[in-house]
Amino acid sequence: MANPRRKLIFNIYMGFYCSAIMANICICSQFSTSSIDPFNKDPGAFPVATNGEPFPWNELRLPRVVVPLHYDLLVHPNLTSLDFVGSEKIEVSVRDATQFIILHSKDLEIMNVILQSEEDLRYRKPGKRLNVLSYPAHQQIALLVPEALMADLRYSVAIDFQANLANGFQGFYKSTYRTHGGKTRIIAVTDFEPTEARMAFPCFDEPSFKANFSIKIRRESGHIALSNMPKVKTIELEEGLLEDHFETTVKMSTYLVAYIVCDFNSVSGTTSSGVKVSIYASPEKWSQTHYALEASLKLLDFYENYFDINYPLPKLDLIAIPDFESGAMENWGLITYKETSLLFDTKTSSVSDQLWVTKTIAHELAHQWFGNLVTMEWWNDIWLNEGFATYMELVSVNATYPELQSDDAFSDVCFTVIKKDSLNSSRPISNQAETPTQIAEMFDSVSYNKGACILNMLKDFLNEEKFRKGIIHYLKTFSYGNAKNDDLWNSLSNNCLGDFTSGEFCYSDSKMTSNTLAFREESAELKEMMATWTLQKGIPLVVITREGRSLRLQQERFLSGVSKEDPEWRALQERYLWHIPLTYTTSSSNVIHRHVLKSRTGNELISQVGVSILKLNMF
Ligand code: BES
Ligand code: ZN
Repeated sequence: MANPRRKLIFNIYMGFYCSAIMANICICSQFSTSSIDPFNKDPGAFPVATNGEPFPWNELRLPRVVVPLHYDLLVHPNLTSLDFVGSEKIEVSVRDATQFIILHSKDLEIMNVILQSEEDLRYRKPGKRLNVLSYPAHQQIALLVPEALMADLRYSVAIDFQANLANGFQGFYKSTYRTHGGKTRIIAVTDFEPTEARMAFPCFDEPSFKANFSIKIRRESGHIALSNMPKVKTIELEEGLLEDHFETTVKMSTYLVAYIVCDFNSVSGTTSSGVKVSIYASPEKWSQTHYALEASLKLLDFYENYFDINYPLPKLDLIAIPDFESGAMENWGLITYKETSLLFDTKTSSVSDQLWVTKTIAHELAHQWFGNLVTMEWWNDIWLNEGFATYMELVSVNATYPELQSDDAFSDVCFTVIKKDSLNSSRPISNQAETPTQIAEMFDSVSYNKGACILNMLKDFLNEEKFRKGIIHYLKTFSYGNAKNDDLWNSLSNNCLGDFTSGEFCYSDSKMTSNTLAFREESAELKEMMATWTLQKGIPLVVITREGRSLRLQQERFLSGVSKEDPEWRALQERYLWHIPLTYTTSSSNVIHRHVLKSRTGNELISQVGVSILKLNMF
């Protein structure tokens, strides 16, 4: 280099992914009408139920004194009158004595509520009818119990309810399609994430209230019913009605429950581990389902092997829904897709259609582990679902369909979110979200793309093998439970200091004693580094200046729309600092050097004796 003070300026490469972001920008703009938000009410106001009585709970989040264990749910949609009736029995466990049970319910008419104690159930006593209060501003109902429920006991709550099939694309809704003959057909579909399960049945609709679900669906003989689990039996009722009973689910969050009544056809295959995979579409689009079957069989095999954890259900259905708001939804065992995200017509579809279908399938299948098996504790960390699913698209599609060159698009995805993240209006990856509107707004390019990009950066920093072992450790440790950011950082530094009790990547006790300090330090450093990427908004710009035989490293917040001459620029820089993992190689050897840039001031120097070429971001 002729000029010893020549500046090398580059944005930190995080690795990206693009087409999903298009979809998410759409979602985001739909949800961003937050000007009239019934949840932003006066914090001092006392809640009053619809009947004028005081409502006993004043918070958006449910109390944790009563937790659901099992839902027995029966739903009967009427596709002619476009409504449904339902009944459920929720088995709950009471942690502390209480006089009320608070749960979610939105736009449901509650007809009858009966409480039975364990003793009532044992001696087949009828139970007590409960009064119900409704507080629509929080989408909650309160079940008032005449005598306090006792701590450490279980109860059963039976609720009868009914509602119209929703008109939009959320909750339990009506979807229609037209046949080639011009006839309109109606089907009934669920779409619950993030907070719409409460539109279909009263429930504890928060991701950490995991429970088992036994679902029964009534239908007419011209239809089929699908749900998360395989059907165990069909019972004939009077007037030709049929009732399908589905196997009980594994422990899962309410937003992943799904059921559909339709007249669709399917193709099926079996993975190497014996999971039955089926692709469903309306009869006239059935011929476009074959590519999705091939891709999902390949991708499910890939993930089972990559995560070293088998897909835990006996079947997986993927279904193309004619009216579907988002690109797809990862309901456990019954993934719903927009038709264009699943169907592939060998005569008319393009290679870019194939790439989109493959990536969408890869994304939703990744959620069966990241999201379904291990779920974020709360919506503020939805990036643990969406960032991972987006990152895994890159890994799995590269491995199963290298000819699609999906990795080419990844840097584009990073650059797309850098654009947004360089505005002061951006937000941290983990962000407080309480109301349904705020929660819906979390499904944006920051959660999806920046999430995926920082995971890709971390993979390069730790190396692929360690990263993979770390995420396997995370998935095994928190299976059927919930996790937060720190749980991920602990698993990635493999320190085994948390609740972890077994697993092939955990060190033995003797090794732990000698290495505990090192693990703690490694974990603390990783946490500190990743906090700079997840808890503050924005993105750094690294400026590297050659100074004689050294390189001076500096970082600043990368801002678009504010020039350095603007007095505001300095104010916007303050307090922003990242721990930036850098890799570089020089013309003097093939060795890849690593350095974590932690300061802003430019005091960090890398000594480079007599090298003519320096390459950064090597991996
Ligand atoms: N979990 C989401 C679906 C979703 C999106 C629910 C927004 C609630 C709000 C699903 O996994 C998803 O990310 N779908 C994407 C398509 C995917 C290929 C990136 C979508 O719908 O845009
Ligand atoms: Zn997703």
